[in-house]
Amino acid sequence: MKFSLLLFFWAVLNGGISTYRPIALAPCEMRNLEAFCQNVDLHQVPPELHPDVSKIDASGNKIRNVTERPLTFYASLRHLDLSSNLIGFVKPGIFAEMKNLLDINLANNQLYLLAQEDLWVGLLPQVRRLDLSRNSLYSGMAEHFIHQAPSLRYLSLAENSIIHISQSMFQGSPELVEVNLHNNMIMEIEEGAFESMMHLTKLNLSMNSLTCIVEFNLRQLEVLDLSRNSIESFHSTQSVEDFNLIWLDLSENKLLRFPVLPQGNKLAYLNLTNNIMQFVMVDSHSDVNYQWEDGPQYPNNSRPPYLPALLSLDLSYNEIQSIPSQFFDSMLSLQFLNLSKNCLQTFGTSNELALLSVLDLSCNSLKNLKLESNTLRGLREFHLQDNHLQELRPDIFQGLPYLQWLDLRNNKVHLCDSHSGSRRQRLSPNVPHSCVSFVRVPKLQYLYLSANRLKNLPMYNFFGTKLRVLDVSMNWGLQIEAKSLVGLEFSLEYLDLHGNGLTTLNVDFSLFPHLRYLNLSDNQLSWLPAWSEDCCVLEVLDLHNNSFNSLKNSQIPTLEKNLRNLYLVGNPLSCCGNIWLSQMIHKAVVEIPDLDLVKCQFARSLGFEEEEVHMSHVRPEDCEREDLKNMSVLIFLAILLVLSLIVIGVGLVCCYRRHLFGRHYKV
Ligand SMILES: *[C@@H]1O[C@H](CO)[C@@H](O)[C@H](O)[C@H]1NC(C)=O
Ligand SMILES: *[C@@H]1O[C@H](CO)[C@@H](O)[C@H](O)[C@H]1NC(C)=O
Ligand SMILES: *[C@@H]1O[C@H](CO)[C@@H](O)[C@H](O)[C@H]1NC(C)=O
Ligand SMILES: *[C@@H]1O[C@H](CO)[C@@H](O)[C@H](O)[C@H]1NC(C)=O
Ligand SMILES: *[C@@H]1O[C@H](CO)[C@@H](O)[C@H](O)[C@H]1NC(C)=O
Ligand SMILES: *[C@@H]1O[C@H](CO)[C@@H](O)[C@H](O)[C@H]1NC(C)=O
Ligand SMILES: *[C@@H]1O[C@H](CO)[C@@H](O)[C@H](O)[C@H]1NC(C)=O
Repeated sequence: MKFSLLLFFWAVLNGGISTYRPIALAPCEMRNLEAFCQNVDLHQVPPELHPDVSKIDASGNKIRNVTERPLTFYASLRHLDLSSNLIGFVKPGIFAEMKNLLDINLANNQLYLLAQEDLWVGLLPQVRRLDLSRNSLYSGMAEHFIHQAPSLRYLSLAENSIIHISQSMFQGSPELVEVNLHNNMIMEIEEGAFESMMHLTKLNLSMNSLTCIVEFNLRQLEVLDLSRNSIESFHSTQSVEDFNLIWLDLSENKLLRFPVLPQGNKLAYLNLTNNIMQFVMVDSHSDVNYQWEDGPQYPNNSRPPYLPALLSLDLSYNEIQSIPSQFFDSMLSLQFLNLSKNCLQTFGTSNELALLSVLDLSCNSLKNLKLESNTLRGLREFHLQDNHLQELRPDIFQGLPYLQWLDLRNNKVHLCDSHSGSRRQRLSPNVPHSCVSFVRVPKLQYLYLSANRLKNLPMYNFFGTKLRVLDVSMNWGLQIEAKSLVGLEFSLEYLDLHGNGLTTLNVDFSLFPHLRYLNLSDNQLSWLPAWSEDCCVLEVLDLHNNSFNSLKNSQIPTLEKNLRNLYLVGNPLSCCGNIWLSQMIHKAVVEIPDLDLVKCQFARSLGFEEEEVHMSHVRPEDCEREDLKNMSVLIFLAILLVLSLIVIGVGLVCCYRRHLFGRHYKV
């Protein structure tokens, strides 16, 4: 009896386990009627899921066929992810009864096989989102999936091999809002292909092979990405109707001219970087070949473009030689303008461009700037690096009351001695100006003056600014006066003076309580003023490649509380003159990068012999011992001297005595 009871329990237990087993081994993890079965080597859609499952993610498996069973059994299914499988077969009509299905992801499969077999997927009654990217589909194949997709809103056909967009391609999906055709080989779009989609707002045609856009008339479109094609020209229809286009990306194409945009437009963002434009407006002298010989009469851009809503214009990386100042006439909203990497020799605007906040003119051939007063009053960032700027009006930057960031690296500007600039200007306003002043540019915080062949940094040069970052590096032969940085004491956080060949630096850095970064590398300094106790928050001090022998008087250990990095390689340091340093190394609070390259001179035998040793190997005792040794040698020498003096003295006395005695004797 007992035994059979036990047997019974065992059977129940065993039976329990065995009925439980398929679920335990089911490849899917269920969470709130959502099944997750990614990357588990499935060969078919799992048949044993809950009938009310609302989402199945079976991506990354080995499914080849999508068949009626079990899929149609899951009538509540809303989201189906079968991406990254091997699917080449979908049972025609399979989705027709799946009235809840909203979202199908079939990316990265082999759906071209299905189209090759001339199978058609059939009705997609409620599907809103369909991803068919990466399926090696070519022209005419996408239709096999979307020919009856009345509810489709979002369609991705990215990374396929489509060459041709036919007029009928999207006829079965009139509700499309977004179409992604990124990275195909589209060369041709038949007229009318997109026109029928009244709600189409976003069209991504980037990375294709389009060479020109004529008669652009998709008024419903808001976002159009045409980047990375081979487009040489872009022409809108000559319609007076309003276009909804807000965002147009034509970057990385072969545009020769500024695009001819719709007259009535809301364009806010226009990206034309990386093209080959030489002119932004038609110039009858230089532009004779503008109109095609026997082509239709397209509107040309002999008049400035009308872009009243434009916020951002990127024209960088072209070959623009000049920009007529009326080009900006309509751009009253412009906030960002990038003209970097062109061939501009001068830049001027008489237009106020009052909202322009960022202007990038870097990497051109600018010699001067012709900014009329009252222009660019809102400018915050001005990028002028890598030009030939030399002749700037001395007060040019004072006219920019909101300027925060000014990059003048790699130019040839000269700085005005205090007040001389404005005086010169007053005397003769027409002579070319030779210096520029930063005094009283009230909001200026970042100033880069590296590599300008500056010879001196005049007194009070930055007075009335709020500089936090100042880069005056790579101006070989620069002289810095004691009062050069006056006015920056309570704002300066970052100062770069490397590569100037400085031999003296008379700036008392104790007066700069917020300075966190100081780069003095690649100079010829042998002395620094002392930091006073608790004055500063310096975190990085770069002294590498200088002529420091002893840094004892600079009181660097007073910075220990905040200092994180101290760079010292490449100085003829004396080992025993910098005992503070060995102490700092042993405490290991401050990191000394490349410590094993920091060498010092160890003087032996009263300095008659010098030995180069690793700073980290120097122990204070060695110097004490060497001191002691030197001391004993000194004492020995002193004794020797005294002794020899005594000997000499005694000798002399003896001689004298003998002399006396001799005389006596004679007498
Ligand atoms: C998948 O479909 C193809 C074509 O209908 C068929 O030949 C093949 O046997 C099917 N494979 C499976 C595993 O059902
Ligand atoms: C177009 O598609 C590419 C690739 O998916 C993407 O990087 C780009 O941001 C898309 N463009 C727009 C405007 O969304
Ligand atoms: C313009 O497009 C390029 C890529 O083609 C991108 O790097 C750049 O940031 C864009 N410009 C703006 C202002 O967004
Ligand atoms: C540009 O178009 C205007 C009128 O639309 C015409 O007068 C002018 O000659 C054209 N310029 C060029 C260079 O084709
Ligand atoms: C302007 O464009 C250049 C080149 O495309 C880019 O390197 C630079 O970062 C852009 N400037 C700004 C301020 O975005
Ligand atoms: C100091 O400037 C030199 C030269 O540009 C640079 O190599 C070094 O990294 C800078 N030091 C620090 C700490 O940034
Ligand atoms: C050290 O600085 C000098 C300028 O003072 C520079 O010419 C040289 O290249 C620098 N050497 C190293 C190793 O950085």
